[in-house]
Amino acid sequence: MATRSKRGALKRLALNRVYRCLEPGPVILVSTFRDGKANVMTASSHVVLLPDPPRVGLGLGPWNHSYEALLSSGECVIAVPGADLAEKVMDIGNCSGADVDKFQRFRLTALPAGLVAPPLIGQCLYNLECRVCDDRLVEEHFFFLFDVVRAWVNPARKERRTLHHNGDGTFTLSGRTINLKERMVRWPEFTFE
Ligand SMILES: Cc1cc2nc3c(=O)[nH]c(=O)nc-3n(C[C@H](O)[C@H](O)[C@H](O)COP(=O)(O)O)c2cc1C
Repeated sequence: MATRSKRGALKRLALNRVYRCLEPGPVILVSTFRDGKANVMTASSHVVLLPDPPRVGLGLGPWNHSYEALLSSGECVIAVPGADLAEKVMDIGNCSGADVDKFQRFRLTALPAGLVAPPLIGQCLYNLECRVCDDRLVEEHFFFLFDVVRAWVNPARKERRTLHHNGDGTFTLSGRTINLKERMVRWPEFTFE
């Protein structure tokens, strides 16, 4: 009892809920290409490493049809959808490329990438062409590390808010921006437009 009161209002959080505290980066769509066919899946377990070189980590499990395509080709495109694609994002993550052509079913516009085989997604805000740079954690943790080798932004999309999965089928939309650039005195190189 004494210990509990020392922590004020804090309550224990079940360990199987921990991912929900950290997961909400923008939900992404991951496109892959194998045997002449493009596929796409939804993902949210990603992490940005230090920005230079641009490197991204992604947890992607073998229960996904995309897993073999990624493992064998070493390439994917990470696309960041806006909030206008919320329902599609959810449905893409609830069916498999083993059964359905998701580009066709969800009317996604596949555009040619510059350096990798998987397609860019025309409806997304950003498209990052990625190559696996380290697969040592794949077997044990299903964790892929990518170099981003080319990146695209789509300024024509009106809806700029991104989707952030809360880990339970609900999403938070990115909201108001507060600008504290003038206080970023130690890191001015990060304040460029
Ligand atoms: C919101 C959401 C987030 C997801 N995040 C991940 C993830 O980070 N890693 C993963 O392996 N699967 C994740 N999934 C599950 C895959 O998207 C799902 O298994 C999909 O059907 C795989 O498609 P595929 O079989 O065509 O590869 C997520 C699903 C949803 C709906």
